Amino acid sequence: MLDNLGNLERTHSCGQLRTENVGQTVTVMGWVARRRDFGPLTFIDLRDRDGVTQVVFNEETAAAAHAKAKEVRGEYVIAVTGEVVLREEGRRNPKLATGEVEVSAREILVLNDARTTPFQLEVTSSDALASEDLRLKYRYLDLRRPQLQANLRLRHRVVAEIRGYMNEQDFTEIETPILIKSTPEGARDYIVPSRIQPGKFYALPQSPQLFKQLCMIAGLDKYYQIARCFRDEDLRADRQPEFTQLDVELSFASQEIVYRLVEGLFPRVFKLLSVELETPFPRMTYAEAMRRYGSDKPDLRFEMELQDLTREFEGTAFAPFAAVIEGKGEIKGVVARGGANLSRKALDELQEFVKRYGANALAWIKLGDETSSSLLKVLGPEATERVAAAAGAAKGDAVLIIAGKAKVVAQSLGALRLEVARREKLIPANVYRPLWVTEFPMFEFNEDDGRYYAMHHPFTSPLDEDLPLLKRAVEGDETELLGQLRAKAYDTVVNGVEAAGGSIRIHQREVQGLVFKALGLTQEKARERFGFFLDALEFGTPPHGGIAAGIERLLMAMTGIDNIRDLMAFPKTASAADLMIDAPGEVDAKQLEELKLKFMKD
Ligand code: AMO
Repeated sequence: MLDNLGNLERTHSCGQLRTENVGQTVTVMGWVARRRDFGPLTFIDLRDRDGVTQVVFNEETAAAAHAKAKEVRGEYVIAVTGEVVLREEGRRNPKLATGEVEVSAREILVLNDARTTPFQLEVTSSDALASEDLRLKYRYLDLRRPQLQANLRLRHRVVAEIRGYMNEQDFTEIETPILIKSTPEGARDYIVPSRIQPGKFYALPQSPQLFKQLCMIAGLDKYYQIARCFRDEDLRADRQPEFTQLDVELSFASQEIVYRLVEGLFPRVFKLLSVELETPFPRMTYAEAMRRYGSDKPDLRFEMELQDLTREFEGTAFAPFAAVIEGKGEIKGVVARGGANLSRKALDELQEFVKRYGANALAWIKLGDETSSSLLKVLGPEATERVAAAAGAAKGDAVLIIAGKAKVVAQSLGALRLEVARREKLIPANVYRPLWVTEFPMFEFNEDDGRYYAMHHPFTSPLDEDLPLLKRAVEGDETELLGQLRAKAYDTVVNGVEAAGGSIRIHQREVQGLVFKALGLTQEKARERFGFFLDALEFGTPPHGGIAAGIERLLMAMTGIDNIRDLMAFPKTASAADLMIDAPGEVDAKQLEELKLKFMKD
């Protein structure tokens, strides 16, 4: 028989009791984390969101409660009233905030029972966790773990801090609609069929981009929103199909104004974890970041910069490298400090690793007691030493080398730099290195379909000095110039995490038209998709710009947690499924009929 809660109220949470409370009569409620029986004494660890309190049931002093306590099992929900007592010497638990005391129970109410949980909730290390799929199916149980609860509470504090800051800076929080038309951010849209207008569809926002720009045209001046975004794209460890942004837009904004805003905000948010971020953040152009780190989100906590070794191989008889040089490719390397002891197996694994990023092969030099190298035979000992020295390697180090097209070398060596640093534990703990990556290219050429795409989004302004190039590319048919255009676009990167991205926007109708043309949108197509926006640009649009910070990404940068799912309450799997509610799911035939939708067979 279960008990009723009635009017009983908690006096304390399970994380609150301390020695000062000794002697008080208290009522605590929560879940049974553990029960241990020692004859006349039964101990229960009682857990709620605040912590764990030990409750002791003594057969001699409270026989009825003791008998009842023996019946409860893991995850039962109970209420206990009793007296706070000091734990016996030797029974104190310094690891627990409440570990000096315990509650000597007088009464227990069993408020609910619980089935045996499908996996152990209390684990000593993350290696002991049940499979993630099982935990996602029973997410409400996994969320009982203190670590996940702490993450969600931190998330709440971060968002509250953000709101506080934005309000102080005189921004207005404005909600924009979820049922809209496509806003391009480079992913596919999630679409929603209309019942009232069969054959027509809404798209869920990939971001509120156009609406926030329309707010500027409306004269709202300083906008922000904690906005949900939806993107149907290939998922990775740091991406979710549904995520949250702090979305910001300001009128009459230069890049400097946006930088200052973020350099005010991020330190406040990181302070919640007692982390001091130094401002102003250093700045690095996209071109420099790619050259030095092979990444547009460089992790500056460690060095291992990419070294250009192309010159060292000029005139080489080694055919694969000679071909790369002939084809205007690059040969670059990174030095792994202490890497001379990398095993054959480790090198083989790294070889496979770089292939995933498009590299053909990984060459290596190890400066151990003797120098060994995959290139020794083709280069000879002298040239091998010379290459190692040119890379800046010293005794005990290894040089890892990749040759190929510039883009492939950057991608694969940039990824290898991170991988080796992680494996060899070269990344210092408790170090935070924010930076601005600036001057992103406006357009990116896609080899697959032979056309240019906006690197940020099509509403981003080119650098003033590059505007003539845009005109020439579009009006003078010199399309290849598009690849050279730089944008007023910037990302905030912290410890290799792209925490925010934004740009100064195009505010002149003519320039927007040129960009649409450059992207291959005919005038009709541009009107059909963005006619409302092109019209709006003609009614006195102020210069404006903004930025959006991924809330989950910000938390990843703050906490070092690399699984985005641990930072949101109800995440989706890599196949964009919610295993708990079993979504996506099928719909009734009747619903489809109302929507006038039919499925095509494959
Ligand atoms: P962008 O596409 O760069 O810009 O997104 C801004 C920030 O949102 C986060 N983010 C994500 N987080 C989790 N899962 C995802 N799938 C995901 N995609 C992006 C990142 C990223 O830096 N409208 C523009 C902003 C602007 O120009 O003002 C935009 O959305 O932290």
